[in-house]
Amino acid sequence: MADTLIRALVAVEGLDAFDVQRALPDDPHFELVGITDGVDDTVRTLQSRQVDVLLVACQGREDDRSLQIIDGAHRTTPELPIIVLSTSSPNGFLRRAFDVGAADMALFPQTKEQLRFVMSKAVARAPRRGSGPRSERDSRLVCVLGPKGGTGKTLTSCNLAVALALAGQKVLIIDLDLQFGDVGLCLGLPPEKTMYDLAVSGGSLDEDKLSDYVMTHDAGVDVLLAPARPDQASAITIELLRDVLVVARSAYDFVIADTPPGFTAEVIATIDASSDLVMVGTLDSLSLKNTKLGLETLELMGYERDRIRMVLNRADTNVGVTHEDVTAIVGRPADVLVPSHRDVVRSVNEGSPVVISRPRSDAAKAFRALAGFYVGAPVDGGRRKLRRNR
Ligand SMILES: Nc1ncnc2c1ncn2[C@@H]1O[C@H](COP(=O)(O)OP(=O)(O)O)[C@@H](O)[C@H]1O
Ligand SMILES: [Mg+2]
Repeated sequence: MADTLIRALVAVEGLDAFDVQRALPDDPHFELVGITDGVDDTVRTLQSRQVDVLLVACQGREDDRSLQIIDGAHRTTPELPIIVLSTSSPNGFLRRAFDVGAADMALFPQTKEQLRFVMSKAVARAPRRGSGPRSERDSRLVCVLGPKGGTGKTLTSCNLAVALALAGQKVLIIDLDLQFGDVGLCLGLPPEKTMYDLAVSGGSLDEDKLSDYVMTHDAGVDVLLAPARPDQASAITIELLRDVLVVARSAYDFVIADTPPGFTAEVIATIDASSDLVMVGTLDSLSLKNTKLGLETLELMGYERDRIRMVLNRADTNVGVTHEDVTAIVGRPADVLVPSHRDVVRSVNEGSPVVISRPRSDAAKAFRALAGFYVGAPVDGGRRKLRRNR
């Protein structure tokens, strides 16, 4: 990775440009495309030059113009990794920086080696870029989102993961509801090994190490469970999470990320790293309004609509909201409709997803249809084509 040529553009905001330039790597595999000042200058340069990574060097203040630079750059070149280099990192600033498109951050000053490393990582992780290193597999990271608790995110994550495994895919599900994750319950897996154990194990992460901390469900789905107790959640840093996502994506055909409600820092980092999103909503006007807001936020983050699937859960509920209303409120129809049924509740209580325990149910059909979008073919629920994960 260290030998790949990296062409970096550096936008400087509120810092001394010479200080920043002196801190940049000076090895032959690093090329400084230019140093820009302000949004317009940065956007123009991005439009006219070949750039692998944008560094935004700034003070990290919440009223910083750097946020506008990140936003403008991200809209111009959504797939270009943007790294924030800031002299401080207050939470509010970081959240907003990630909101508008930053891929990573590092404190400034920073050694040349560290900076080189952060850039190499960001370039390696950049999704589907025309050049530069990429993971050998064309694997997908599907992040399952929903505006509030109880909409069916975990249900969708588990059933999608199992349906993909039924279709012969190698699948990992990651429970990012770090405090109250219940993927283990939904799949009937005891928390013998969790992400917390991985976090406190120390050392660097690779595919072998990840495999030591996943549990395997009978359907052949690997699972990286959320910590068993809420107080352990803080051990999982965004840095670790990013590493886990990169390693997982190179080891599996599909990585499904189940999330807590809302755009937490983990969720934002996962959205950034993902290839696809599933938005889960329910059939009531409050949930639909939030779904619409969620979709708008994703678009602001530069996420294209065609990479987002919409699941409407409890879609048969007779509550006076029609499917036409859904399209009118949300602005698009749902891709998949999951009916409300006691079988779903039973399957959750039994710890066995409906796609396995009740393959003929309408809910199972809906989740297989969702999986079918990703594998590009109908997923057959009758025959079990289980492939054990390595
Ligand atoms: N389609 C459905 N039919 C019946 N019950 C459902 C359905 N979807 C969800 N539920 C119930 O709601 C609970 C919460 O769903 P869950 O997937 O855990 O939501 P989230 O992860 O969004 O908080 C489930 O445990 C289940 O009992
Ligand atoms: Mg959940």
